Amino acid sequence: MIIGIDKMASYTPEFALDLTTLALARGDEPEKYTIGIGQNKQAVIPNFEDVVTMGVNAARKILTVADREQIDMVIFATESGIDNSKSAAIYAQRLLGLSSFSRTIELKQACYAGTYGLMQANDYVKAHPDKRVLVIASDIARYGIATPGEVTQGGGAIAMIVSQDPKLLAFNDDSVYMSQDVADFWRPLDRTEAIVDGHLSTDIYKEMFLTLWQRYKQNTNKTLNDFAGFAFHLPYTKMGKKALDQIIDEAHDGQRQRLLANLEASQLFSREVGNLYTGSVYLSLLSLISNSSDLLPGEQLAIFSYGSGAEAELYSVTLQKDFHQYVPADETKAMLAQRHEVTVAEYETMFNAQLHHSYGESQTAANSARKTVQFWGWRDGQRI
Ligand code: HMG
Repeated sequence: MIIGIDKMASYTPEFALDLTTLALARGDEPEKYTIGIGQNKQAVIPNFEDVVTMGVNAARKILTVADREQIDMVIFATESGIDNSKSAAIYAQRLLGLSSFSRTIELKQACYAGTYGLMQANDYVKAHPDKRVLVIASDIARYGIATPGEVTQGGGAIAMIVSQDPKLLAFNDDSVYMSQDVADFWRPLDRTEAIVDGHLSTDIYKEMFLTLWQRYKQNTNKTLNDFAGFAFHLPYTKMGKKALDQIIDEAHDGQRQRLLANLEASQLFSREVGNLYTGSVYLSLLSLISNSSDLLPGEQLAIFSYGSGAEAELYSVTLQKDFHQYVPADETKAMLAQRHEVTVAEYETMFNAQLHHSYGESQTAANSARKTVQFWGWRDGQRI
C-alpha cells in the first residue's frame, strides 16, 4: 500500500516586517540578517490570530466535502498552543466542519511534533486504509523585541492530508530518529517567549543531522546521489545550509550543484515568513516542490525535522506521478506577495498586543476572533 501526503497548504497572517528595516532600527548591518541569518521578512502576528486560526486557515484551503466526511482523525502539532488542557484540534474540528465521529489530539515536542503527527497518520492509514488523517502544524515563534532571537521570529501553519494513494508524496518508511535531553531552547508554562541558547541550539541541530545521516546511510545503503533535494527544518534559512554543508562533498559534481540549487528552492518561502516551529520543515518541503525547476516523479526527497530539547528525525519521500498538478505553488506565492508591510513601530505594537490565552475574558476574545477569521481581510490599507 502506498501512503503519503495527498494534499498540503500553508497559511501565514497578512502582515510582514522587512528585516532590512528591522536591522537598521536595531543598529545591525542588514547583511547580517539577509545573508548571515538568511531571512528577508518575518510574519507579524496580529492579536486576533493564534495557532487555531492559522491552522484552520491553512486546512480550509484543501478540504473538500469528501475529505470532511473521510477524515477520521485530526492531529494538531504546536508548541504555542492556547490551552494547557483542551486540544487545538477540537477547535479545528468544529471550525472546519469535520465529523464529530473523529479523534482529535494535540502533540508537543518543540518543532519536531509535526513530523511525529505525520508518522502517526502513516501508521493509522496503514491500519485503516479507507481513512484520511488531517495533520496541522501551527505556531507563533516569539523571542522578544531586540533579543538575538528576534530576527528568527515568524509564524504560520501547514495543513496536510495523509491518505492511501497520495497525489503529492509517498512515505518511504525509512525513518531514523533520536532524542536527547538538551537545554538549548524551552518555554516554561508561565512564559510567552522562549528561553534559548541560540548557538548551542545551532550546534545540536547540526550534530543531530550528522549523526542521523550516518545512521540513515547505514540502514538504507542510500547516498547523497539518491536524492533530488532536501527539506530542512528552517528556524532561519542559513540553518539548512549549515547542516547540508557538513555532507555536501559526499555528492558527485553535478549532483552537488543540483542539491545546492534545490536547497535554495526549499528556502524561498521561509525567507519570507521566518520560523513556523512545527510547520517550518513542511514549509521548506512545500517551497522545494513549488520552486524547484527540475524535480521529476519517482525521485526521492530527504526530510530533516528538528525540535529543540531535542529530538530529530530523518526520512525520505517519493514524488508521485502527477505531483506538479497538485502543488499549491501559485496560491502560496500570491499569499506571500499580497501581505501588508508594517513598520517597526507597528510590529512592536502588534507584538505587545498579542492575546494571552488564559481562561476568562481573553479566551472569549479568542473565540470571537476565531469565529470571524474566515471573513477577515485587508484591502487598500483598510481592515475589512
Ligand atoms: P547572533 O549571535 O545574533 O548572530 O544570533 P551571530 O553573531 O551568530 O551571526 C549570525 C550569522 O551572521 C553568522 O554567520 C555571522 O558570521 C553572520 P555563521 O557564522 O552562523 O555562518 N554575519 C554576517 N553576515 C554577513 N554580513 C554581515 C554579518 N554579520 C554577521 N555584516 C542566532 C544568531 C541564530 C543564534 C539567534 O538569532 C538565535 O538565538 N535564534 C533563535 C534560536 C534558533 O533559531 N536556533 C536554531 C537551531 S534550534 C532550532 O532550530 C529549534 C527551534 O526552531 C525551536 C524549536 O525546536 O521549537 C529554534
